[in-house]
Amino acid sequence: MLYLDHAATSPVRPEVLEAMRPYLTEVFGNPSSHHTTGEAAASALDDARARVAAALGVRTGDVVFTAGGTEANNLAVKGITLAALARDRRHLVVSPIEHESILESAEYLRRFHGVPVTQVVVDSLGRISPEALSAALRDDTALVSLGHANNEIGTVQDLAALSAVTRAAGVPLHVDAVQSAGWLDLRELGADERRVRRIRREVVGEAAFAGQQPLVLPALDALAEQARGHRASLSAAARTALTIPT
Ligand SMILES: Cc1ncc(COP(=O)(O)O)c(C=O)c1O
Repeated sequence: MLYLDHAATSPVRPEVLEAMRPYLTEVFGNPSSHHTTGEAAASALDDARARVAAALGVRTGDVVFTAGGTEANNLAVKGITLAALARDRRHLVVSPIEHESILESAEYLRRFHGVPVTQVVVDSLGRISPEALSAALRDDTALVSLGHANNEIGTVQDLAALSAVTRAAGVPLHVDAVQSAGWLDLRELGADERRVRRIRREVVGEAAFAGQQPLVLPALDALAEQARGHRASLSAAARTALTIPT
């Protein structure tokens, strides 16, 4: 069989497996525990976080490891929009061709929090023009959430042009870079002058959400004690410690 579905999932590379092995065997502790094994796992996580932050050009404390892209998108779309409600910003902009994790987060916010959602117009190739994005914005827009490379049709958005629109309007732009992080130069994400370097594909099945200060996200899960209160569930070193060789 010729496997052509690597954008959906890929086998783990041997060097990644080797890098993970210690955290699947000896260094398996709960990083929140204060014993030697837990502290070794916590140190591996700190190292991973520092490397991801360096690759994304954000501060170490701004990186939240998640179980995958769906969780990261939920955290970003729901978290940023819900936080903005307190400032009377309640409008959300997405495009109709986003991944379900964005569209369903938008639908959740519409249904349960009365958030008005605008779907920005895309052309026949799935491209969003700066003019169309500008027309979709309102005075009370809390967030624009767009995918970088589309997971179905492969369209790559011109983020430099789109982020210029959101920056001029003072609206945060969330970019779902799940499909592009391994392949495209993300520097053009340049939103908020954040420099983003190439992330290598080794981070299979895992994701990191990198926010920027002052970005205060409410916890979406009850008992969200881990990850500085952003998410529930154990921060497993084995899941994240492999990360990005710089
Ligand atoms: C563009 C895009 N966003 C989000 C996701 C969800 O990522 P995950 O499967 O890690 O939850 C995918 C999955 O392929 C995707 O293609």
